[in-house]
Formats: sequence, structure tokens, C-alpha cells
Amino acid sequence: MNVLVKDKIVASEAGVVSIADRGYQFGDGIYEVIRVLNGKLFTEKEHMDRFYSSAEKMELVIPYTREKLTGLIYDLIKANNVIDGHVYFQLTRGNQDPRNHAFNDDAEGIITGQTKAYPRDMKMLEEGVTAITADDIRWLRCDIKTLNLIGNCMAKTKAQRAGAEEAILHRDGTVTECSSSSLLIVKDGVVKTHPLTNLILPGITRIVIMEAIAAANIPVVEEAFSLEELFAADEVMLASTGHDATPIIAIDGKQVGDGKRGPVTAEIQRYYDLRIEKECGK
Ligand SMILES: Cc1ncc(COP(=O)(O)O)c(C=O)c1O
Repeated sequence: MNVLVKDKIVASEAGVVSIADRGYQFGDGIYEVIRVLNGKLFTEKEHMDRFYSSAEKMELVIPYTREKLTGLIYDLIKANNVIDGHVYFQLTRGNQDPRNHAFNDDAEGIITGQTKAYPRDMKMLEEGVTAITADDIRWLRCDIKTLNLIGNCMAKTKAQRAGAEEAILHRDGTVTECSSSSLLIVKDGVVKTHPLTNLILPGITRIVIMEAIAAANIPVVEEAFSLEELFAADEVMLASTGHDATPIIAIDGKQVGDGKRGPVTAEIQRYYDLRIEKECGK
């Protein structure tokens, strides 16, 4: 297995970073996960746009041009022979010794990256997954894809311990998103999802789903909704790079709709497949 460290592809054992790295000490950095399908980066432009936007919001300087960074990511995928899977890459604010909360304006960022190979889980896309609800205890800049994920990690662990795939987060009864995915509900044919504010990550899968919704003339409202609306929904779906649009068929042990993938989710999945075929040729 090879990894990316700065602008070099090296064997993972050689991928050492300093304990003075601000990513290690403060979670001071950002990251992206891009799906690799048929050896190609799916929705590459959207992910790179978000990476640059997260960097700007955190006053982080990306040390390479966009072309060079994209090239390094492709080099890593090829070095590991990833056909289907994902590539993870992150940028930290680099080393600061002695440790100090305040960051230096001239900090030199460090890029690292890894890959993981896995096929699309067609069974999961059809049969769906279960979820629990959990308090959204995260900070107030969830729009930044920062390495600081402990609130997300605690919620996901709670879900896994309950035998569920995801945790649906809410702030005092208002649903935001999931621990590592966006969330959409369908009631009487209308899709509802939280608007793009500081309280949710602007999901790339969410963008593709919005395109699908527009293409299929499905009515949609970008409005916060309550736990009561969540439990009364006909369909619920989570959306993320690793899960595409996956039906949630039960929440906190209560069945959603008829407990099966609904027609709106299926329609969105059809569009998703077409977009993959168009971009990655499979
Ligand atoms: C908190 C959160 N929301 C939403 C998403 C979905 O984003 P994307 O569709 O870009 O993978 C993720 C993905 O990691 C996430 O961590």
C-alpha cells in the first residue's frame, strides 16, 4: 500500500509525519473523500471546489496548484491500482513547535493521502440501512470539512453499538444531517432537506441528488424539519460519497414507510447511476 506525503508517493511505512503537526495536535486541517469508479474520480470538480472552499474558510494555504494536486491524487490511485473505491486526502496546517493554539500566518501546509478499494454495494442501495437519532453536539461551522470530527465520531460509534449504520443528528429536535452523510426525507412526494447553512456540510452527493430531483421534476424544499416530520416521512435517505443515495428503512427501531426503498429514492438512484456512467464510463 502506498500513501501520499507532501508531493511524493511512498510506501505506507515511510509515510511519517511529525508529532508537532497541527493536524495531530489540534485537528487543524481539512480533508476530502472522492469516490473512485472505473479508475476515475467521480464528481472531481465538486470535491476540489469544496476542498478549496474549506481551505479558504480556515485560512489554510494549499501548497500546490489544483492541477498538481489532482495529478498527485491520480498518481496515488494508480500506484495502489484502485479501480473502485475512494481516495482520502487531507491538508493540515503543518508543524508548529512549540505547540501554540494561535496559528502562524506563514504556516506551511502538509498534504497526505490514502486509498481504499471497495465495490459499490448494490444490495445496500436496494435493501437500505437502519439509523438511530442522536444529539448534534458539533460546533457551529459544520459547513467546513475539517479534521475535527469527534462529535461525528461519537455519534457514529453510538449508532454502531446499536447495530445501526448511521446516526441522524438533531439540535433540540430539529434534524440537521447524519454523522457522515446528508439526510433527505420524502413526504407525499415532496423531498425535504436541511438548507445549506453553517449547521451542515455541503454534501457533494446532495448536489447530484438535487440535480436528479430537478431532472425528474420532483418537488423539493430546502427547509429544516423536526424529528416528528422525520418519523412521519414516507421515505428517508442518507447521501454520501461512500453510500450514494441509500434508503433508511428504520429509525430507532421504528419502520420508515413500508420498510422498503421508496419510489423517489429509486428514481434518484437511477439518475445517480446515469451520472456515474457519464463521468466514469461504467
Ligand atoms: C457530516 C457529513 N455530512 C455529509 C456528508 C456527505 O458528503 P459527501 O456527499 O460530499 O460525501 C459527509 C461525508 O463525509 C459528512 O461527513
